[in-house]
Amino acid sequence: MNSAVVVEKPRLSVIEAADSPQDTDGFAKAVVDGLTAERKSIPSRFFYDEIGSGLFEKICDLPEYYLTRAEREILTTRAGDILADAPADLTLVELGSGSAVKTRLLIEEMLSSRERLLFTPIDISRAAIEDSADRLLSDFDTLKIVAVRSDYHTGLSILKQRNTGPELILWLGSSIGNLDRDEAVTFLQGIGTTMSPDDRLLVGIDLRKDASVLEPAYDDAQRVTARFNLNLLDRINRELGGRFDPGTFEHRAVYDPDRGRVEMHLVSWVCQTVAIDGMGVEIQFSKGETIHTENSYKYSLDEIDEVMQAAGLVRNGQWFDSEGRFSLNRMRKA
Ligand code: AVI
Repeated sequence: MNSAVVVEKPRLSVIEAADSPQDTDGFAKAVVDGLTAERKSIPSRFFYDEIGSGLFEKICDLPEYYLTRAEREILTTRAGDILADAPADLTLVELGSGSAVKTRLLIEEMLSSRERLLFTPIDISRAAIEDSADRLLSDFDTLKIVAVRSDYHTGLSILKQRNTGPELILWLGSSIGNLDRDEAVTFLQGIGTTMSPDDRLLVGIDLRKDASVLEPAYDDAQRVTARFNLNLLDRINRELGGRFDPGTFEHRAVYDPDRGRVEMHLVSWVCQTVAIDGMGVEIQFSKGETIHTENSYKYSLDEIDEVMQAAGLVRNGQWFDSEGRFSLNRMRKA
């Protein structure tokens, strides 16, 4: 795996894989493929341009969006247990560097019992890496960060080549929920192939619950999630010369208990044809037709174990928030 150091500052290096994709890669093709299919869809990973990432940070603070608070509560109250058998030379790895608010709780706990710590976030966005790294380094002066700008699997392979010691890999925020069950197994299997017997994987997973709790979490009173969803149309307008009028679309979030997932859609309230000039296509919408923009899968405890087992992983720790809404699962290789 060819990689190069692209940022070198005191206590911070950023490595990039030689053929690492840019975070905007694939948007145009995904939009045209998704909107010309019989059932229209756009993959949820395209929510996260600069505006979408900012809106997602706001979602995490919404009263209805309990996931972030519940996960933070577990990390705040159980960091000691989560790290109880952690070896002294443990490296902390994180898939998606996010705002680093939650990771900070584990870093704090680790630095309370050891002198120094190596933290290695992997993220496709260089801005996200540098923002969170700057904040962490100014708060912890014995922390060193070696970040990798790449997709997760490439990043883990690069880190394995450089680091022979034990790792705790964090995959927080119920990001697993945005993959379907088979994709989740494949993704976890991929992580498993890079894990040594001493490595641990900590996965945040949202639990199945009543639609009366789940639907408001994805359709909040302040309409931040609606703006997050509708920003996809603005993004098509900005980047691909689209002519969407977002005012003719409405945000919809519905929980399907059989599939155990919240689906987000953009519903066209009128019959219309929308041109995307930059791509030379015109998209027809009938009244009430939807663009499926996201699935957010929720898990029962049995479903967590089934997916982990299918991926060749074994659970060796599980923690819940005080209201039993969210779980943190520590895994090792089977
Ligand atoms: C990032 N991901 C886990 C969020 C979720 O809950 O599925 C994305 C999100 N979509 C709407 N609100 C939050």
